[in-house]
Amino acid sequence: MVTIQDIIAPEAIEVDFTFQKINSTYTRTIFVAGYPRSVPANWLSPLINFPHQISIAMFMYPADSSEILNNLKRKITEMEAEIQSDLRAGKISNINTEVKLEDARYIREDLAKGSERFFQFGLYVTIQAKDKDELDKVTQAIQSSLGALLIVSKKATLQMDEGFKTTLPMGVDKLLITRNMDTTSLATTFPFTSSELTMESGIMYGINEHNDSLVIFDRFQMENANMVIFAKSGAGKSYAVKLEILRQLMFGVEVIVMDPEHEYEELTKAVGGEYINFTFGSEAKINPFDLSTVYEEGENELGQKIISIHGLLKVMLGQMTPQQEAMLDRSLVATYKAKGITPDPASQTNTAPLMEDLYKALIGMENAEADDVAARLEKFITGSFRGIFDQASNINIQSQLTIFSVKEMEEGMRPIAMYVILDFIWTRIKKDLRKRILVIDEAWYFMKHPDSASFIHSMVKRARKYFLGITTITQDVEDFLHNDYGKAIVTNSSIQLLMKQSTASIPVLSETFYLSQGERQLLVTSDVGEGIFFAGQNHVALRVVASDEEHQLITTDPEELVRRQRQEEELDQESANAAPQPASSKPPQNTNQNPLGSTSNQKQNLSGDEQPARYINAATIDDYQPPTQ
Ligand SMILES: Nc1ncnc2c1ncn2[C@@H]1O[C@H](COP(=O)(O)OP(=O)(O)O)[C@@H](O)[C@H]1O
Ligand SMILES: [Mg+2]
Repeated sequence: MVTIQDIIAPEAIEVDFTFQKINSTYTRTIFVAGYPRSVPANWLSPLINFPHQISIAMFMYPADSSEILNNLKRKITEMEAEIQSDLRAGKISNINTEVKLEDARYIREDLAKGSERFFQFGLYVTIQAKDKDELDKVTQAIQSSLGALLIVSKKATLQMDEGFKTTLPMGVDKLLITRNMDTTSLATTFPFTSSELTMESGIMYGINEHNDSLVIFDRFQMENANMVIFAKSGAGKSYAVKLEILRQLMFGVEVIVMDPEHEYEELTKAVGGEYINFTFGSEAKINPFDLSTVYEEGENELGQKIISIHGLLKVMLGQMTPQQEAMLDRSLVATYKAKGITPDPASQTNTAPLMEDLYKALIGMENAEADDVAARLEKFITGSFRGIFDQASNINIQSQLTIFSVKEMEEGMRPIAMYVILDFIWTRIKKDLRKRILVIDEAWYFMKHPDSASFIHSMVKRARKYFLGITTITQDVEDFLHNDYGKAIVTNSSIQLLMKQSTASIPVLSETFYLSQGERQLLVTSDVGEGIFFAGQNHVALRVVASDEEHQLITTDPEELVRRQRQEEELDQESANAAPQPASSKPPQNTNQNPLGSTSNQKQNLSGDEQPARYINAATIDDYQPPTQ
């Protein structure tokens, strides 16, 4: 009768001296004969992550400590005697014996105290290959990897069958080639940090530097979808984020970006997003008094709005005395009330007040403190800063990708503008829930002021509820982490990406992220686009890689941009020469007109074509030396 064994058994097994052939697969087992004297944590990772199909078996046998102690005692006496006799004979004692003696004494002490136990450890590897050549090649590669770890390995010659069975998941050690190890050394053999971070779903963040696997991850499956990115300037933070944006867009995620450096425009154009540029002359307006008009159980929207306007006004107007703050609070309530808006949600659909109404309410207080606040507010309504925040909102977030830029604002106004924009985004996000990512690039702008820092912190804390993931990017690592709000933002972000760091930031980073020695080293020496990706309990060394098409859209390397511009010009030239019409009659039409039209029209390029302003930054062209062909 045919048994199950007959069905699953291979047709033939051919056992040779140093290999075994099962059907058409060759296998070879090697065992470890010698170990290094001391080993760091996870020292076996080159073996565990070896890029070939291998089976690794480790056997650990607890040994009886009392027997070992007796053996050690005998050994120690022997070694001491050897050293003594050398000395008596006037010779220098053997250094190897001294080292061994020292080790033996330590182990004996630890064993006697019970802080260590003893084990016998066996390590076997079975390699599989399609043919003999490949088998030999892989064997050699593994043996030299092991050699680099100071591990001596040998083929289990004439025991291939036993070796193969030993590495099957049956827990039977048929080779029994063991070496004694104490608990600590044994613990380091555990493949705990075998680092793979590949989820079933999600987007690719990059390539795992250890084993070249893909780091695929879905941030919306974590307890919160927030992320922080820390690195020094030029390390590739914005690049990594732009890449993530492109990939998230493909999964239907909506993305909103705060772009203080004017870096995301090219990307926005390519994916048909909306680029909203804030300057005094621009058409885009935001009214900070807008309410989301959605009612949520247990939330007092008006109360929260007043707190956030209060924070904004502190950023705008500078420090206030407690009396002034009280006046401001009363005026804010009165301003809303004059428009018929009260804590009753039904009343909150009324038209929101404007900055001017607050100004009038402050004046109406007829009080010296309120007058002082009103005087400081005046410049935003009638004075030089008039223009953006004192009118009804006229923008909307409709595109899948929306970028807000404040680059053209005066430096001092940027934090204020960013605050107003963030508050506006927050209000709109609450209105309709969708999978969204909000990117705050150069977030240190916000950390400079405690009120704006606290605002971001409260957004990060509540984002989950609104299906929102906030990405906070900063280069000013020390300031960010020495700030209580900054620290809280990090703890409220499930994903963290650290890229190249300056040595000065390492202490605070190690403290915050519990970095190992190796990780610290990696961060200081890493190249552009490399870093460590933390997701919950996992960390992996990550290399951010883009496809050529993606790279074209997101790079900001001036050399590449200038080269590309030249190529485009040459192409234009060629097509103009080929065409019958004269080339100089008309500049090319701008086909990618921005809906709000404020960036691409304001600054014209030297040659008059449609490139955005930063391409024709005169300095880049003047400094640029074309490569000699
Ligand atoms: N992974 C990468 N591969 C190739 N080039 C990169 C990569 N990351 C960054 N760069 C380039 O390095 C430069 C600096 O990157 P950027 O993201 O602007 O730095 P940061 O935002 O950290 O200051 C840019 O020119 C960018 O194109
Ligand atoms: Mg950047």
